[in-house]
Amino acid sequence: MFSKNSTNKSTKISFNTFLSGAPARDYIMQDTHYDEQIAQAANMIRNADHVLLGAGAGMSTAAGAQYGGKFFEEHFGEFQRIYGKGPHMQDMYSAGFYPFPDQESKWGLWSRLALTAGADLDVTPLHRTLLSAFEGKKLFLLSTNVDHQFEKAGLSTEQIFATQGSYNLIQCKHGYHPKTYNAVERFREMDAARRNGRIPSEMVPKCPVCGGNMAMNLRVDDHFVEDAAWHEAGRRFGAFLSEAQDKKLVLVELGVGFNTPTIIRFPFEKLSQEHENINLIRLNVGSGAAVPASLGKRAVGIDADMAKSIADIVSSVRR
Ligand SMILES: NC(=O)c1ccc[n+]([C@@H]2O[C@H](COP(=O)([O-])OP(=O)(O)OC[C@H]3O[C@@H](n4cnc5c(N)ncnc54)[C@H](O)[C@@H]3O)[C@@H](O)[C@H]2O)c1
Ligand SMILES: [Zn+2]
Repeated sequence: MFSKNSTNKSTKISFNTFLSGAPARDYIMQDTHYDEQIAQAANMIRNADHVLLGAGAGMSTAAGAQYGGKFFEEHFGEFQRIYGKGPHMQDMYSAGFYPFPDQESKWGLWSRLALTAGADLDVTPLHRTLLSAFEGKKLFLLSTNVDHQFEKAGLSTEQIFATQGSYNLIQCKHGYHPKTYNAVERFREMDAARRNGRIPSEMVPKCPVCGGNMAMNLRVDDHFVEDAAWHEAGRRFGAFLSEAQDKKLVLVELGVGFNTPTIIRFPFEKLSQEHENINLIRLNVGSGAAVPASLGKRAVGIDADMAKSIADIVSSVRR
């Protein structure tokens, strides 16, 4: 259980002190009517000066991003024919983990995947709608998404801390040096040059420092590179929260489940428990929408497709 006092007031918050591995133990589903929940969330937003958004995979899904099924067959049929439809070649997430025989094959798939799920993805209408609710407020986004959709929707990079990497960046596979490289143009060249799932050997990216293989800048193992821009974004996040923690702050959690709950979900619960001036809006579907009972009216968990709940909240805020 979290303590109810506010001993943390005015202490500086950093990304590391913000993180939490402990879930609330008093989850409840709301028993109020949907319309009442929307009104409650809209009120929290209207009354806030500071807004911290926390976005997980559900945000992109609700906005229309597709990863498997027919969509995968259409965009990755070539790879299904080569590797079979086995467990890996079902959706973009699993495909990335296929044990590729060589680097030419690995980048053959990954260039396609990175472009499809990242640079070429546009599910921004829902993101834009959401952002329109916060005009005039101090806004920051913490996100585990790696697909840049909030940036495309108009949020400035200074307001974003994307902790888990980017579909646009590559790094030294072993993380031997702390730099990342934008590879979108290279991905386009690879995508155009690919034959039978493989790219030409001379296109395989090599580490400019150690000469070894490169990898996507995605947090999948301990070699994930946190470059200067990552640390700078982390510092801006800490500065925003250090200032906002004693103000009228609302935390808006968007489709964050239990895959990586320690970065947004649990810390949002802890922060709200520790500060009586902080409200929590949790948007999710099913049991993911449960909120800590001890937060009382300071938390609202809305169990609905975010394509709907976001639109309803925004029109209620503007009413
Ligand atoms: N778009 C991306 O960039 C992307 C996509 C998939 C995975 N990832 C990575 O995988 C990890 C996923 O962790 P996570 O906790 O975000 O994901 P998660 O899969 O644990 O949680 C997603 C949550 O969104 C909810 N959700 C799904 N569709 C919804 C809808 N239409 N309306 C409301 N809620 C909905 C689900 O109930 C679930 O709780 C992250 O580390 C991330 O880096 C990123
Ligand atoms: Zn290297």
